[in-house]
Amino acid sequence: MSTVEQNISLVKDFTYSRDLTRRIVEPLEVEDFGIQAMTDVSPPKWHLAHTTWFYEDFILKQYKENYNYVFEDTRKLFNSYYETLSKPFPKSQRGLISRPTVQQIFDYRNKVEEQVLELLNESGQVDEQLTFFIRLGIWHEQQHQELLLTDMKYNFSVNPLLPVYKEGRAETEGITFHQPVEWKAFEEGLTLVGTNDASGSFDNEQPEHKHYLYPFQIANRPVTNGEYIAFIEDGGYTTPDYWLSEGWSTVQEEEWHAPLYWWKEDGTWYHFTLAGAQPLDKTQPVSHVSYYEADAFARWAGCRLPSEQEWEHAFKTENIEGNFLETYLYDESRAQHNTVFGTVWEWTRSPYSPYPESARPDGALGEYNAKFMSNQMVLRGGSTATPQGHIRPTYRNFFHPDKRWQFSGIRLAKDGRV
Ligand SMILES: [Fe+2]
Repeated sequence: MSTVEQNISLVKDFTYSRDLTRRIVEPLEVEDFGIQAMTDVSPPKWHLAHTTWFYEDFILKQYKENYNYVFEDTRKLFNSYYETLSKPFPKSQRGLISRPTVQQIFDYRNKVEEQVLELLNESGQVDEQLTFFIRLGIWHEQQHQELLLTDMKYNFSVNPLLPVYKEGRAETEGITFHQPVEWKAFEEGLTLVGTNDASGSFDNEQPEHKHYLYPFQIANRPVTNGEYIAFIEDGGYTTPDYWLSEGWSTVQEEEWHAPLYWWKEDGTWYHFTLAGAQPLDKTQPVSHVSYYEADAFARWAGCRLPSEQEWEHAFKTENIEGNFLETYLYDESRAQHNTVFGTVWEWTRSPYSPYPESARPDGALGEYNAKFMSNQMVLRGGSTATPQGHIRPTYRNFFHPDKRWQFSGIRLAKDGRV
């Protein structure tokens, strides 16, 4: 690809990602933009501003001579956790930021976009490093597009009126997962995990390295709501034997008796979705479970969760197609069959830690992924809220084991040959 073609492709991808964010918040009313219903989630207006601040501090400040921040104060409010750049505002207080107003934040986005496009259109400016940072800005915005949906869902869920974000369809409608599980079996041996593609992946996916696998089998589809109901009805949440110690404590403390957003009324299970309250479809993949619940279900089922290396080895040649953010938002192409990618993130049994011979990047980049490598578990595959262009077979998502407001589900594995 020539330099000019690369510029055009960058501009196109940048503009697409910024427009997609606008499209995501289109159904919101102004009152929805400031809500932060728990510390894990951020208000929609904060996401809009933070993904804009990112371009200012990571790119415009470095590449534009004497760059003036659009609002000097945005650095005080919209830096998430980059200690090397400025003092971050406490996450738990993001819902208290009433000013700048929603309209001012939309104006802020427009102004920064103009500056980024100007930078990209200046001849000779787009070197390899700038290309990398623009790609990083796009990936970063994609991550927040997913968070916008999962956070809005949580924010709406605490309102007893159970507001509808988008009429029409539940998040996973259109795919049926009711077929009996088939097991894909793999022999033991060395495999390659991760990637050396420094311009096309995050630092946490690098480098490509050898990993020894023992014989294992992995399910061809995720666990369904119907199968999870069987676990509940068999005393899943009242039998300590199935649970890790911390998981069992969390079940007691949080009084969990089902996945997040589920309730039972007159003998029927319902769940809250972005399309409001819906009866639970037993053929759909179970979603909004924590690592603890995924692990307990697997034990009850006589199986275990896959390691992230097993997951990657099993699915690295699969097409990246499935039920993604674009499918959900635009309702264009419903996936008609079982796909590995999309629909729900799948918990693995692997702790989120550095790959062999990986190096933590210097400065703020080292704060992007690497500083979170403790006490979190890896999830693979992407969800119904992940932009399709964001996911790849080596992609590592990570959350604490008690978190369940993401679209997180379960794929089973087991030891041994068939
Ligand atoms: Fe961020």
